[in-house]
Amino acid sequence: MSSTEIQIKEMVAHKWDLASETFDTHAGHGIQSQKEKDAWKRAFQDVFPKKDLKILDVGCGTGELSLLFAEMGYKVTGIDISRQMLKTAKTKAEARGADITFGEGDAENPPFDISSFDIVFSRHLLWTLPNPKKAVENWKRVLRKNGKVVIIDGVWDSGTLESRVRRDAGALLTLLLERKDLRKGHAGYSDELKAQLPHAGGAPLEKVKEYLSNTGFEKIQIFDLKEVREAQKENMPLGERIVRSYQYYLICGRK
Ligand SMILES: C[S@@+](CC[C@H](N)C(=O)[O-])C[C@H]1O[C@@H](n2cnc3c(N)ncnc32)[C@H](O)[C@@H]1O
Repeated sequence: MSSTEIQIKEMVAHKWDLASETFDTHAGHGIQSQKEKDAWKRAFQDVFPKKDLKILDVGCGTGELSLLFAEMGYKVTGIDISRQMLKTAKTKAEARGADITFGEGDAENPPFDISSFDIVFSRHLLWTLPNPKKAVENWKRVLRKNGKVVIIDGVWDSGTLESRVRRDAGALLTLLLERKDLRKGHAGYSDELKAQLPHAGGAPLEKVKEYLSNTGFEKIQIFDLKEVREAQKENMPLGERIVRSYQYYLICGRK
């Protein structure tokens, strides 16, 4: 890894260390209701092959979805570069008696042997990687044959005036009406850091599909996660609901 890459990742890790305490309070991060949890489970049941699975959650953060996978009966390993996010994840797992292995590791180059997992999963991660293409290639490496990569991401800032106005208006409305700061639970990258990330406003579906097909993933499928999003919106302030009307998707492919 070049010294620039190391610096970028240190900055990213630091930002998430700071955001770790409030991360789960955000309605799009922490699971806020039984209805949302059930919707997530149904979404993953449609995507995961029905058998014992070893799942690697890359950029697992506070482990919200790692915990869900463990609850669904899967064997889960979560890696992240933020020690504080991992600390929160471990505390949550301990409190719930969940047997999950959490550890430090770079999602762009997961420290595991080839063919170690049935599923490599990432949520809200690709946008914050300096080398998303390299990450997808390495995810394929640690997947066993017929294993699946499962990615959830979205584009909250496409760079257009419309998307900026929607975000700013939503944040202002939430602050005025609900006295809630929408920046809480987010890392808030500087322009300098964003300039180092090819998808700083979110990874577009077409681009991610291209990464998967160029890496040789087959049977690519796309889901809109409508049921999950509807459930999440029930716990979001009005301003946040306005902000959330952007492209959001689950994409998966088979090795
Ligand atoms: C938006 S959070 C998403 C957390 C979790 N996946 C979720 O959906 O709740 C992004 C996470 O990716 C982690 N991250 C960023 N770059 C990473 C990298 N190169 N390797 C591992 N984790 C990384 C951050 O520390 C942070 O915990």
